[in-house]
Amino acid sequence: MNIILLGPPGAGKGTQAARLVESHRMKQLSTGDMLREAVAAGTPIGRKAKAIMDEGRLVSDDIVSGVIGDALDKLAKSQGVIFDGYPRTELQVRSLDDLLAARDRTLDFVIELAVDEDALVERITGRFSCTTCNSNYHDTFRRPKVAGVCDKCGCSGFSRRSDDNEEAVRTRLAEYRAKTAPVMPSYQQRGIVRTVNGMASPETVAATIGVILDRLPQMRAEN
Ligand code: AP5
Repeated sequence: MNIILLGPPGAGKGTQAARLVESHRMKQLSTGDMLREAVAAGTPIGRKAKAIMDEGRLVSDDIVSGVIGDALDKLAKSQGVIFDGYPRTELQVRSLDDLLAARDRTLDFVIELAVDEDALVERITGRFSCTTCNSNYHDTFRRPKVAGVCDKCGCSGFSRRSDDNEEAVRTRLAEYRAKTAPVMPSYQQRGIVRTVNGMASPETVAATIGVILDRLPQMRAEN
């Protein structure tokens, strides 16, 4: 199964992808995470991407599609994939179609996380994560049970993303409206979009997505 999680910055794509990795044994391919790794490692791609990401603008289509193609090549064909944060432009939609076709994969669902834009800035600017295991926290909504200690791995190092400030978030939202939201109609025409209320609790969102994905075998049998 191959699915896209689509939604604006802070919609909960990463949160839900992490849950699907656990619940459905799928592989998360997050272009944001892969680019941040390239930045941290100081690779040529990372050096090109850093300033663009810090400002909240989109990195070039050829870079991100190259990164996704390389990542797909490392996976077994039977491994289900969650595309998190990709595609984000019309050109990336076409690139993904080509990348999947060349690897005999089909796109099963585009899960659109519908959210209230007013909530997003607060969600993002309050976010921080464990530097060791990457577990996600929030100043208001999800604090560690013991202040300063990661619930999952017990470490005490936390960091915030350099693009999680209000100015960059506004630019990221503007980029989403201008370049990413317009890709939705082409997926709607294919009949594979399922819209989920991303304002519900993470548990409820995950349960709703689970019901959608678990119906796929029945849908295939009916067609
Ligand atoms: P990327 O890393 O993809 O960031 P983004 O799309 O801005 O998304 P976020 O990671 O901020 O949000 P999310 O939807 O994953 O939400 P999360 O689950 O973390 O991209 C970063 C940059 O890389 C881009 O700006 C661009 O420069 C570049 N880039 C990446 N992909 C690219 C591409 N394809 N093309 C070109 N450039 C690309 O949740 C956010 C917060 O909300 C967390 O604190 C979480 O705990 C909380 N939360 C989650 N769900 C809920 C809920 N249901 N209720 C309450 N709180 C919740």
